Amino acid sequence: MGRSGGRKPIYLRPTQPIEKRVDDLLRRMTLEEKIGQMCQYSGFSEAHEALVKQGRVGSLLNVTGAKNTERAQKIAVEQSRLGIPLIFGLDVIHGYSTIFPIPLGLASTWNPETVRKASSIAAAEAASEGIHWTFAPMVDIARDPRWGRIAEGAGEDPYLGSAMAQAAVEGFQGRDLADPDTIVACPKHYVAYGAAEGGRDYNTVDVSERVLREVYLPPFKVAIVKAGAGTTMSAFNELNGVPASANRHSLTEILREEWGFKGFVVSDWNAVGELINHGIAGTSAEAAKEAVNAGVDMDMCGNVYQTSLAQLVRDGAVLEEKIDESVRRILTLKLRLRLFERPYVDPERASKALQTKEKLEAALQAARESMVLLKNEGSLLPVKKDIESVAVIGPLADDRNAPLGSWSCRGNPEDVVTVLEGIKSRASPRTKVLYAKGCESEGNSKEEFENAAETAGEAGLAIVVVGEKADMSGEAACRASLNLPGVQEELVETVHETGVPVVEVLMNGRPLSISWSAEHVPAILEAWFSGIRGGFAIADVIFGDCNPGGKLPITFPRAVGQVPIYYSHKNTGRPPSPERWTSKYLDAPWTPLFPFGHGLSYTQFEYSDLHITLKRRGKAGKVEVSLTVENIGGCQGDEVVQLYLRDLVASIGRPVKELKGFKRITLKPGERRTVSFALAWQDLSFLNREMQWVVEPGTFRVMIGSSSEDIRLSDSFEV
Ligand code: GLC
Repeated sequence: MGRSGGRKPIYLRPTQPIEKRVDDLLRRMTLEEKIGQMCQYSGFSEAHEALVKQGRVGSLLNVTGAKNTERAQKIAVEQSRLGIPLIFGLDVIHGYSTIFPIPLGLASTWNPETVRKASSIAAAEAASEGIHWTFAPMVDIARDPRWGRIAEGAGEDPYLGSAMAQAAVEGFQGRDLADPDTIVACPKHYVAYGAAEGGRDYNTVDVSERVLREVYLPPFKVAIVKAGAGTTMSAFNELNGVPASANRHSLTEILREEWGFKGFVVSDWNAVGELINHGIAGTSAEAAKEAVNAGVDMDMCGNVYQTSLAQLVRDGAVLEEKIDESVRRILTLKLRLRLFERPYVDPERASKALQTKEKLEAALQAARESMVLLKNEGSLLPVKKDIESVAVIGPLADDRNAPLGSWSCRGNPEDVVTVLEGIKSRASPRTKVLYAKGCESEGNSKEEFENAAETAGEAGLAIVVVGEKADMSGEAACRASLNLPGVQEELVETVHETGVPVVEVLMNGRPLSISWSAEHVPAILEAWFSGIRGGFAIADVIFGDCNPGGKLPITFPRAVGQVPIYYSHKNTGRPPSPERWTSKYLDAPWTPLFPFGHGLSYTQFEYSDLHITLKRRGKAGKVEVSLTVENIGGCQGDEVVQLYLRDLVASIGRPVKELKGFKRITLKPGERRTVSFALAWQDLSFLNREMQWVVEPGTFRVMIGSSSEDIRLSDSFEV
């Protein structure tokens, strides 16, 4: 390991400042070894082993399990000239072994503390098996449910998305990356990947600089500047004509020069090599030059830096200073992670870190909080535990893969509690629990409909679990329709026709246009892909052990033809109205099926006493808002109090409302709570015609709601 007798070289001395250690190591490295740090490969093949021994690999991803990471690390540390440890990356998206709800479900909790805890648990489990780096959180704002990766983010709103991004990064990274239970975060995909045309993955993105900065960049800025994320990942998509992985404006001018980001940028999988497909590079060498000069420090699985950078440096097309800059960032992070002092897994820790009682309880609690009650006509829910008989029906009722979602990491279907298992476990011993699959989650066969109807007919309640398979959302999983796949909607109709009351449970990775159900089914619960304890959480909601308090982080369209449809839209010159000559459709309402922020409870909340005080003007300006919320119903419940703001008249048209505050509170029956918000000047600001952040004089409307549509209190203040 680079020791040559006597004192250790500076880079191996933990008492030396990181900067000095990096300088010392850089001086010792050949150009090939430097470029090696900028190369990442997936798995650990013989070819990778040979490169590692030559010091020409900086990182591996998808090497899982303590034994496998250990074997590769030993070769890097003990058999290469300088012994530089590898940094192991993995998509630890919503859990490592203890799998939590998908990010869209975690966002539905509107509880950053829950997201922080889930990320912290995921980090501890992953770190225990030698993972140092997660390619998460995905912070892409998305307003097109056709895009499969909407499942992996926090929905349509930059304010909510920023809060979730900060919580996730802080959860993964803890207070100090030297802590063995932390891993470095990687907010992705930088940037505006969620704005892909047609909701089609990897497709072209063209947004104005204003929309880029007001909608798509904020969660990245919070994750990087506020939460201190150590890395970020450049996206696949073209961004305003230049691919995001070759875009100097976003990667250097904004990320480095404006934000001062000191970490490193990894490309998405072969996004450097794909610059050729984008047509901005004719050869691998040109692709490497474009990417490294724009600001991509590490080439994920493209092998383009490995094969081209050295010659580009020798030809002067890429300065060695540029290489040194990237390598310095990568080595600094490895030293912050203490990989040189602690390169190997602690088998003792690894053996007892996974799926502890506390971690599983946290996954259950997160799943409960993520549940969104979309409809509950006649208070059908909750049902009594000693109900005589209940029929659990549907292709996802006993499915143990779907709850893990599309990025299930080390999640094991055998660990999943299905809805059927959850119902059986939570119902009273006297309750007869019947089951019928009814149909597959895709395909046209209705052969089992009759059996499903008969099964429902024998019960006092039918719980119909429908939705998508895990691989119908996530990467490269876009859909041109938002309907329930296959014949699932007909299954719901068939069961509904028996006359037995129906509770529909949705298990899905995107909003679904379930218009028929929304009209006919009395109770609908949005469960998302709810992780390994989702079955218990769903049963707890149905039987009332958990009063659902989740809210939608994403608008549900009535039909895919309405897309894009989101709450913070502009008013237009002809806002939708029953008048003919206004902005609407001839064949569908202009309103959503379920709005952003929507979610019902088993109790009721009353809002009163709204007070708004403009404390100060100017950069340090502040507006204090307070109100009272009372639980006027019969059971304890959570309410997410939402604060929306509208700048009525400005030099740039402003949205009809924008989320600028939210708080999830728990109230006992009869309990009253004062809820306060402090709006900073930044919350009132927007980019004017000169692209400056300004707060213009005028009237602002404050709207306090239980959803973006269910506004309970409002008032105005003047600036
Ligand atoms: C994939 C995804 C990215 C993921 C990476 C590594 O293509 O786009 O989100 O982190 O490759 O698996």
